[in-house]
Parts: sequence; C-alpha cells; structure tokens
Amino acid sequence: MMKCPRGTRDFLPADMERRRTYESVLRDAAHRFGFKEIQTPIFEDADLFILRSGPNIMKELYAFKDKGDRDLALRPEMTAPVIRAFVNGMSNEPRPVKVFYFGQCFRYERPQSGRYREFFQFGAEIIGSDTPESDAEAVALAVHMVKALGLKDYRVRIGHIGVLRQKLADAGVPGDRTAEVLQKLDKKLYDEAGPLLRGIGVSDEDVQGIFALTETVGGLDVLDKISGEARESLKSMTNALIAMGVKDLEVDLGVIRGLDYYTGMVFEIEAPILGAEKQICGGGAYSLSELFGGEKVPSTGFAVGFDRALLVLEKEGAICSVPGVDAYVVPVSDAVRTDALKIVSQLRMAGVSADVDLMDRKMSKAMKYAASSNARTVVIVGPREMKEGTVTVRDMSTGSQEKIPLLELAGRYAD
Ligand code: HAM
Repeated sequence: MMKCPRGTRDFLPADMERRRTYESVLRDAAHRFGFKEIQTPIFEDADLFILRSGPNIMKELYAFKDKGDRDLALRPEMTAPVIRAFVNGMSNEPRPVKVFYFGQCFRYERPQSGRYREFFQFGAEIIGSDTPESDAEAVALAVHMVKALGLKDYRVRIGHIGVLRQKLADAGVPGDRTAEVLQKLDKKLYDEAGPLLRGIGVSDEDVQGIFALTETVGGLDVLDKISGEARESLKSMTNALIAMGVKDLEVDLGVIRGLDYYTGMVFEIEAPILGAEKQICGGGAYSLSELFGGEKVPSTGFAVGFDRALLVLEKEGAICSVPGVDAYVVPVSDAVRTDALKIVSQLRMAGVSADVDLMDRKMSKAMKYAASSNARTVVIVGPREMKEGTVTVRDMSTGSQEKIPLLELAGRYAD
C-alpha cells in the first residue's frame, strides 16, 4: 500500500476542521494586534536559507536542482522569505511593517512525536523597528496566541543573544566559529562544547564562565547580573510587557535559538507536557535584509509551531467538536426527492449550510447519517406537508420537532 512520505501526514476532514478552527483563532489574534497577512513561495533559491540560517538548518535543508539547473530549497522557515519579500516589494512602506503568515515548512529531521519533516508555522514579523516596545509587541502577541488557543501549562523564557555573543568574543572565540559554538550550547551539549572551545584556545576559566552564563535562569532579578545595552533594552522590554499585561516571565540567558540570524532579544515558549519536543514557539530580534540586497532593517518576530501547539491541546484534553451542517434535508419517500433537492438548494442560496441524502437511503438510515455527521437539525420533507407548504424540523440536540412553513424555513436559521 502506498503511504505518505516519512515525516509527513494526511489531514483528514475531522483533522482539518480542528486545524482550521485553531488557525482562525491565531488569525484573529494577529489581526487584533494590527498585523496583515503575507504569503511567499514554498520553495526559494537555496541561498536564501544558506546565507544566515546556521549549521542546524543547513543539515536539514530539502535542497534540490530544478530542470533549469537552479539550486532551490523547500523553505525550512519563513522569516528569510518574508524579509526577501520585504526587500523586493515593501521597503517603501511606512514602518514598522507588521505581517503574519501561516504555512508549511520542511526540515529533514528524524521524525518523532511533535517533530515532522513537513510541519506548519504561524508566525509574525515586525519589520523596521528596533525599540524595546517592538520586541515586547512580538512577545505579547505570541503569549496572546498561546492563551487564545487555550493552552494551560506553558513557560515564556526570555534572553538576549548579545550577552553570550559578547562573552564568546571576550573569551577569544573568532566570529566565524561562533555559530558552531552556539549550536552546541543551544542543545546544552557541554561535553562537545568544552573540547570545541578549548580547541579554539579558550581558557578553562572562560569555558566555565560561558557554561555558567547559559545556565543563568530566574525572574526579572537576573537582569541585574548583566550590563550594558542588553540589560537596558531587556529592562525596557519587560516593563513594556508588564504594561501590556504579560506576567510570569522567566529570564533565561541560555535561550540561544537554533537559527543564526538573531542579534538581540530572543525568546521561547515551551509546554512541558510535550517532553523532548516541548518548544512551541520561538523568536527574537534579528537583521537579515542587508543579506538580500536591501539596507539594514532591524526586525523582531516569532513563529508558533502549529502542530506542536495542537498536540498540547490534545494532551491537555481540549475538546474541539467538529460542527456539521445546520440543516440535513431528508425526504421520507422517493415521491418528494426532487422537493428535497429544491429545499436544500434554497437553504444554501439563503446562506444556510445544508446537505441532502445523495444515496437513495431510506429515512431511518438518512437520519443516522445526519446524526453521525453532527447535523444541527434535520429537515423532514413529506408528501402531505409539501401539499400544505410545510416541513418538519427536528432539533438533533434536543430531539424536539416543529412544523414550519417552507417560506419561513431559511429565517429559522438566521441567528
Ligand atoms: P524555530 O524555533 O526554528 O524558529 O521554529 C519555530 C517553531 O516551529 C518551533 O518553536 C517549533 O514549535 C516548530 N518546529 C520547528 N521544527 C519543527 C518540526 N520539525 N516539527 C514540528 N514543529 C517544528 C523559526 O523558524 C524562526 N523563523 C522564528 C522567527 C520568526 N524568528 C523571528 N521571526
């Protein structure tokens, strides 16, 4: 039997109803914060991702040559494509440009629960501003989204990649080795980071200092342990977040992020219930436009891992019932089948979601189908009622029935 490729999934109608419901929750949240939707191609020139995504993403890239010998890649994430689109067509727009996106990304990873080769991100970018308020706006929207979805248990960890980058530079790590070191530290692979750092010539004391920094976690008091621009901007940002009603923040100087383009504030939201793949959202401040032929434009953004967020909801027992049609029209005999078709068509024209038996079923079977597909009501069409211009409407949740004049049928569903 043919199956879908490893790490991909089919979404059957019940999955899709649920996914679309939650997608629209995220869409509403983005609109409420003043973001507008953007869509970019699913594949791009491979260089777009090679230039600054870092070694992690490179290993996982679905890269290929097309028939014209171009080097292309399926997008592993959407920040680089959005910034390319900004450089190409939005750079003259008033700033900040606030955009959101939803779509699939591809990473050649080892599939497991919550980790797929094709997965969906819902993300947002604020392009053209480097104020702490912009950083706060991105975090506030991410937290708002997680709350709006209904997640119960999650942690918001905020850090600043500049602090660790500075520490590495002070310890003598050259710029072209930083990504490699950060990759190990991001995964807390201290056994591998130690020899790597010593090989670069970093002293034992500095290695210990670097490890200690990545383990510095706490409340807002952690900000007093750092200095300079990072401390000032994080202080202003967390004050802005508190003003926006976002509480329970954790400051974690070990938030490093797997992608290489971040320059300042970085943050992650995790849901412990997911175990190993618990990161459901990640983002931060970055600069990419100068790599794609534009001027340097500071930006901040994030992406929610849509599949993981849904997995959390499932594990937390959230119920998302799939609604059926408002009206399922059932003819009681063949004599009124054409009348039933007319009625379903009139209901649809009037904006009511309606369906009709298409399989010549007897009434009892048709009623069963209506119940199993969650129809809200069944409209029973009989020859005697047709003569007097009425139908019987059965409410499927209460079982109560009422006779309604045909002319008033669509109006019954108006509210
Ligand atoms: P990221 O952390 O690489 O960041 O991905 C964002 C989210 O996508 C992760 O937190 C995770 O929930 C989800 N995710 C990543 N890989 C997989 C996978 N294989 N299967 C399922 N879910 C996955 C970015 O991609 C950045 N572009 C975010 C950003 C936007 N930064 C600034 N703006």
